[in-house]
Amino acid sequence: MSPRPSRPPVLDLIGRTALVPLHFLDHGVTIYAKAEFLNPSGSIKDRLALTIIEDAEQRNLLRPDSVILECTSGNTGIALAMVGAAKRYRVHILMSEGASVERRHLLRQLGAEVQLFAAANGYATGIDLSRKMAAEDARYFLPNQFENPLNALDHEQHTGREILAQMEGRVDAFVAGYGTGGTLTGCGRALRAALPNVRVFAMEPAEAAMLSGEMPCCHSIEGVAGGYVPPLLRQAKLDGAIKVSSADAIAMTRRLSREFGLLVGTSSGANVIAALRTAVTMGPASRVVTILCDRAERYYSTKLFGN
Ligand SMILES: Cc1ncc(COP(=O)(O)O)c(C=O)c1O
Repeated sequence: MSPRPSRPPVLDLIGRTALVPLHFLDHGVTIYAKAEFLNPSGSIKDRLALTIIEDAEQRNLLRPDSVILECTSGNTGIALAMVGAAKRYRVHILMSEGASVERRHLLRQLGAEVQLFAAANGYATGIDLSRKMAAEDARYFLPNQFENPLNALDHEQHTGREILAQMEGRVDAFVAGYGTGGTLTGCGRALRAALPNVRVFAMEPAEAAMLSGEMPCCHSIEGVAGGYVPPLLRQAKLDGAIKVSSADAIAMTRRLSREFGLLVGTSSGANVIAALRTAVTMGPASRVVTILCDRAERYYSTKLFGN
């Protein structure tokens, strides 16, 4: 392998994403969407991957023979694999067999090893497995996206502040789904620190509305609500949760492609529906921000593309 570059240039493409206004003339409102799919590996998770790996480097937790090991629904794995490839670290990903096959292909294309676990018990199975593997082999480094405070902190210091600057300090509500809860907790904190009256809402699948006190069940909004209320989200101050069905999420994701030219994944459609409902309730002049989390290309084999 060639020598490790100090700061590979691809990593400078992470963050500072555009924020696009989406005019819904049929509802008389505009939604402001942070285009996180523009990050180099195609999702919001590039931010977390870079921050956690560079923090580990600074704390001498990564050595040339280290293996970055993470349990992920896919996007964090792809992001870690991309940053790992650029920085020449080995990456080993534990992924639910329910995650789309395209994600496996992308991980392998980036040189990562992929290990699948049964989807039935949600993320907890994979998290337990990663802990067991790390306890048995000191070469494994666990980014631990579900508990690592850097996850929410990075969104507070970067994503959230970018939103504030791009919206010129005028935001009435922020709406986002949760996987680890990092985005919602971190952006929510940054917005609340600047705007005491801002409202922060979680989007959750109607079929797995755990914040609303319901049992998790099967849904098709990949990347969110993995059968688990994540620890980072327990610290978040929320004004409520908005339930979106998988069918509505898919319909809106298709609409975003066909009417707005945005090739994004299903959680982006779900976020936009939740933001749209919020904006309709708050009125035509409201400024509601949400996240377009990832690209459509990783969903070819899912219901989004009619399979
Ligand atoms: C497609 C997609 N949407 C939304 C999220 C939620 O992000 P967070 O983990 O910051 O809660 C994720 C997380 O993996 C994701 O992959």
